[in-house]
Formats: sequence, structure tokens, C-alpha cells
Amino acid sequence: MPDFIRAAGLGLLSLPMMAISISNTAHANASPIATGSPTDLAYPNIDHGLNESFYPDEATTAKNIADIIEKSIRKEYSTGIALRDAHPKAHGCVRAEFKIDEALPKNLAQGIFLPGKTYPAWIRFSSGSSNAKQADIKKDARGMAIKLLAVPGEKLLNDEMSTQDFIMINHPVFFVNDPARYMAFMQDINSDSLLKKLHIPFALGAKGTWIALNTRNKISDPLQTRYWSMVPYQLGTGADRQAIKYSAQACSTVTDPIPHTPHNNFLRENLRNHLQKSEACMEFLVQPRTSNSMSVEDSMTEWPESEAPFYKVATIRFPQQVFDTPEQNKFCENLSFTPWHTLPEHRPLGVINRMRKVIYERISQLRHEMNSTQRVEPH
Ligand code: HEM
Repeated sequence: MPDFIRAAGLGLLSLPMMAISISNTAHANASPIATGSPTDLAYPNIDHGLNESFYPDEATTAKNIADIIEKSIRKEYSTGIALRDAHPKAHGCVRAEFKIDEALPKNLAQGIFLPGKTYPAWIRFSSGSSNAKQADIKKDARGMAIKLLAVPGEKLLNDEMSTQDFIMINHPVFFVNDPARYMAFMQDINSDSLLKKLHIPFALGAKGTWIALNTRNKISDPLQTRYWSMVPYQLGTGADRQAIKYSAQACSTVTDPIPHTPHNNFLRENLRNHLQKSEACMEFLVQPRTSNSMSVEDSMTEWPESEAPFYKVATIRFPQQVFDTPEQNKFCENLSFTPWHTLPEHRPLGVINRMRKVIYERISQLRHEMNSTQRVEPH
């Protein structure tokens, strides 16, 4: 397969696309998700007040995309353990504390952002390529998925009762908005025909292809890059609710060099060595939209930081720890992250997030079913 095609897929789309005390043998507590708990596959509605608007037939397109992903997973993992369709390669699942800043302005002190509060968290670092064996030295999108625990309040999905997820990639914008383009891209990338693969840049358009290529990058340590939500979220409820994006970055600007003779899984090795030697720290930032011209439906255009600055709302502390055990790696593989594991105060916005609601739920269920594993809610 020509490199560009893999590049354009960037694994993003598989291609398509605590206890806070840290023990050395991390034992993960988890409860099975109640059998028979109703799965919420209803397509989300839109919030006109925050300028959301539907694309034609987007709910049907989301279902069709989920069908394509399902087919590709069934084919790829007809034997062995079924992995995630996107971001199947984990560099580690680590424990963290997510501590909200002591003083926050009222417009940011919403939902989980209660000044001074600390949540235990699991954080999964990953690479985007659908090839779980890809060497870490290859350019790729890098993921950071945060799952806060012990979060009180009713959530938008009912499969996890006490969690709040934040999912990010280390690039500020996503490479597609229009569900029809995304669908065409998925058909092309999942086809065996070379002609279809050559069609990918036409499916994505010039801007989408440019973003897809630029989302791929090399890093030396998952704790030393900056991540963005790429797509927008609500903050708060009622008349004062606003649209925001979020981001996480290292507390220090020090970055280690890329190794000269990199092992296949050097990102896992570097993360392991880093956290075995010392604790680490990241900042969690929120970017409120400052003008309606910053669209919630267009995730291909950055909200310029010069016009809409990010504000720090929390510190993520990674205690010194040993995370790379077979038990913890297995636990991590069985977790399910989705932007819809959330309080209503952080409701996902925009077409990409609406489609993710039905797609992530379906694909997580599928891989658990194929592996005969129960889906679990960690605590
Ligand atoms: C319509 C667009 C998208 C589709 C179809 C899609 C699809 C998927 C799927 C199927 C999974 C695996 C779910 C599972 O098995 O549990 C996944 C995981 C993931 N996606 Fe997306 N995705 C989309 C957009 C995005 C965006 C905008 C981001 C940016 C933050 C993103 C970041 C991630 C990350 C980091 C993971 C891994 C989460 C983990 O560690 O478990 N995706 N995606």
C-alpha cells in the first residue's frame, strides 16, 4: 500500500480513521456493566442556541460508517483478540490525579470543574494507526484518553455511572466535517481497489488531505506533547452555557530527543522509564469560544488562540508508578472511552461528536462481544 494512503488514513479513522494510592502491582477495580442495561444508540439532537445544525442524513451516514467499521474489524480480527478500530496501539494506561484549580472564574467553574476538587483518573496513551504493530518511529496521530472516576451526577450515557471522559489527539483540528465526505473516505480506505485508494485525496478535499497529513507526527514521550479535543463541547447548562474546546500540555517545556536507534515500542519504554523514575505533570486547559464565527460544526478550522485564549482549569499529576504489567494492560484494553461518557455540563457538540456517539458505542460493544469479555466500568 503506498505510504500516502496509510498517511491519509492516519490511523485516525482507522484508517477510516483509584484509588489514588499507587501500588507497584497496579490492581484495577472494575464492575461489569449491568447486563441488560439499555444501550443508548439514539442519535443526538442539536442545540440551536449554541449554533449546532444537522448535515443532510447524518444519522443514516453515521450508521453506515459504523457498518463499515464493524465489517473491517470482523475481517481484521477473524482470529485473535479484537482491538480498537482506531488507536489500537496503547503506550500505557496510567493512573493520575486530576486536580481542579483552587480559584476559577464562575464561567469556567462548571460541571466537574469544582474549585479544589481532585478526581482519580485512568489515562490511556495511544497511536492512531489501525495497525497496532506499527513502529512508534513512524509518523502518526497520538491519543490521550482521560477517564475521571467518582464523578457524581447523572450522565448522558447510562452504561457508566461515575465516569467523565476527555479524549484528545496531539493536533488542534480534525480532517473532515462533512459526513458524506467521511463516508466516501471510509469506503475508499476499506476497499481493496487501488483506484479507490487513489481517490482518497478527492474524498477528503485539499484541506482535509492537508490536515490528515499534518496530524501525523513523531514524539519521544507521550507525556511531552500537547493534545487537543479537536472538536467542541458545551460548558455549563442553561442560559449561560457556552461552547469550548479543551487541551492538555506538559507542565514543563522540556522534551527529550527522538531516539537514534528506536525500538518498535519506544514510546511505551520511555513512558515506563519516565514514571518509574519520577512523577509527571500536565495542565488541562479550556478555550471558551469568543465569537459565533467560531463554528461548532467546523472542526477543520482552529479557533485562533489570539482571539480565544485557553485558560488552565486543572493539573493532572501522574504519580511515580509501575503501569506496564500484563494485568493492567489487559484491564486497559477492555476500557471504553467515548465523549458521551459525560455530565450534561460537558455535552459533546458538532457533527463529528454526534456521529461518535453511535459509532463508539457500537464498536466498543462489538470488540467486547468478539473477545467474550464483559464491558466494565472502572472505579
Ligand atoms: C467521526 C469521526 C470519528 C470516528 C468514526 C472515530 C472512530 C473511533 C473508534 C471506532 C474508536 C475505537 C472505539 C472503541 O473501540 O472503544 C476510536 C477511538 C479513539 N478516537 Fe476516534 N473517531 C472519530 C473522531 C475522533 C476525534 C475527533 C478524535 C479527537 C480527539 C478522536 C480520538 C480518538 C482516540 C484518542 C481514541 C482512542 C480512545 C482510547 O484510548 O480508547 N476520534 N475512534
